[in-house]
Amino acid sequence: MIVAIITLILVVSFVWTFSFFIFKALLKPSKIAPYVWSFKRHLDLMKKLEIKKWAKILDLGCGDGKALRFFSQQFNIKSCHGYDLNFYAIIYWKILNLIYWHKNIKIKQWNFLKVDLNWYDYIYVYLRASQLADIEDWLRKNKNKDTIIISNSFEFAKHKEFDSIKNFKDKKSIFLYK
Ligand SMILES: C[S@@+](CC[C@H](N)C(=O)[O-])C[C@H]1O[C@@H](n2cnc3c(N)ncnc32)[C@H](O)[C@@H]1O
Repeated sequence: MIVAIITLILVVSFVWTFSFFIFKALLKPSKIAPYVWSFKRHLDLMKKLEIKKWAKILDLGCGDGKALRFFSQQFNIKSCHGYDLNFYAIIYWKILNLIYWHKNIKIKQWNFLKVDLNWYDYIYVYLRASQLADIEDWLRKNKNKDTIIISNSFEFAKHKEFDSIKNFKDKKSIFLYK
């Protein structure tokens, strides 16, 4: 009985002491996009893009490579590269690649902020608006001037798109930037 009371007091004082930090973490969600893949409705919209098969495409935060598999299959693109930090996404990608062997797709577990963007003709992003705002300047400064950025669902904070694709509700859903 005494042990139970002491344990209860310790737990209550621990929660009391750290409640500020716990609530702060709960109320302020991470800016970093979670591991969520592009949905079929997004991919269907991107079928309207005109991408040549010789193009080189990079997915910043590629998850398990779903969007890259779409680009590779839809436009027959030979150089599809992606980087993601999420361990589970990478493991899932490795299993898929073991079964289907996507020879045109290369994915690495790596922070995309350390990647040389200059080589790519297209950069695909499906990230939270808050994370897009954080990387906007870095992205535009380090990409090649002709590289086209394809942003799924979210707009940049500062720059205006040169084109977009609307969804069935007539709302802009895919944004294209230079
Ligand atoms: C919404 S998912 C998009 C997945 C994929 N692009 C798709 O469309 O199917 C965003 C991904 O970005 C990854 N990510 C966020 N910041 C990153 C960073 N600095 N370096 C690498 N990956 C990152 C997350 O781990 C997450 O899997």
